[in-house]
Amino acid sequence: MRDIFDAIQRSAKRIKNAIDVKDIGYSQLENSSGETQLQLDIQCDLIIQEEFSKVASIHTIASEEKEKEMLLHEDGKYYIAYDPLDGSSLVDVNLSVGSIYGIYENAFGTANMVAACYIVHGPRVEMVFAENKTKLYLLQDGEFEFVKEIRVTEKGKLMAPGGTQQNWAPYHKDMIDGFFKEGYRLRYSGGMVPDLHQILLKGGGLFSYPGTSDKPEGKLRRLFEVFPFAFIYEKSGGYAIDGKNDLMSLGHSHIHDTAICFFGSKYEIERVKEVYAKNA
Ligand code: F6P
Ligand code: MN
Repeated sequence: MRDIFDAIQRSAKRIKNAIDVKDIGYSQLENSSGETQLQLDIQCDLIIQEEFSKVASIHTIASEEKEKEMLLHEDGKYYIAYDPLDGSSLVDVNLSVGSIYGIYENAFGTANMVAACYIVHGPRVEMVFAENKTKLYLLQDGEFEFVKEIRVTEKGKLMAPGGTQQNWAPYHKDMIDGFFKEGYRLRYSGGMVPDLHQILLKGGGLFSYPGTSDKPEGKLRRLFEVFPFAFIYEKSGGYAIDGKNDLMSLGHSHIHDTAICFFGSKYEIERVKEVYAKNA
């Protein structure tokens, strides 16, 4: 696992450099989810692939930017699914972006998940790595230094409601409106990494990406986005559900499957469960 931890850190430093120097431009390629892919996404994917290729304990990788899994080392035991540059279109407007990693033993699937990690590329570069506990590291003078352990409180103040409101179910809209009436503050950048990072570091709140009329199964990818954050939130004392069930109890049938998802602290997640039990 130490080798993987180091490879993620090396990738993060190279990705920081790619973000800092890359010209803004779109490639003609489309990723498997049909979005226009930024050249920077491809570059970040290749950086991570190259760094993971050096780690003998990694058996297979799956990337949001690749249609299929890729075998790296027959004798390795780890399977890693990653989103190389989440929220990549936000680079154009100089908002924070990040990379997300889910680390599994022997096969992909929540039951086999042993660690998860994300990197935030913002004004600072930070790494959050969860195994038994969730730890925050800061890139300083070229090295990642341990900062602190992260714990979520029981009730937060922030609300990050994903998806287009026009396409929300009425009960979902009523629930989100209810939180705002209670005094929750809107904090939504459109980047999953910084939006969930903010809620984690500021003690709690709720990030939601519901099923919508155009995307009934949600938008965010199980393996590349949802499961890693579910693991991290649970290890930090927070909660991660699909409205009814824990996200960490869900399976997947294809590496690009999506899931409806809610991440947050106890109070907010209990409310989601009550509302979704009655309506969804
Ligand atoms: O990767 C998908 C993503 O860009 C996430 O980073 C983000 O949370 C989400 O989409 C935002 O989606 P929307 O604009 O539909 O709320
Ligand atoms: Mn993404």
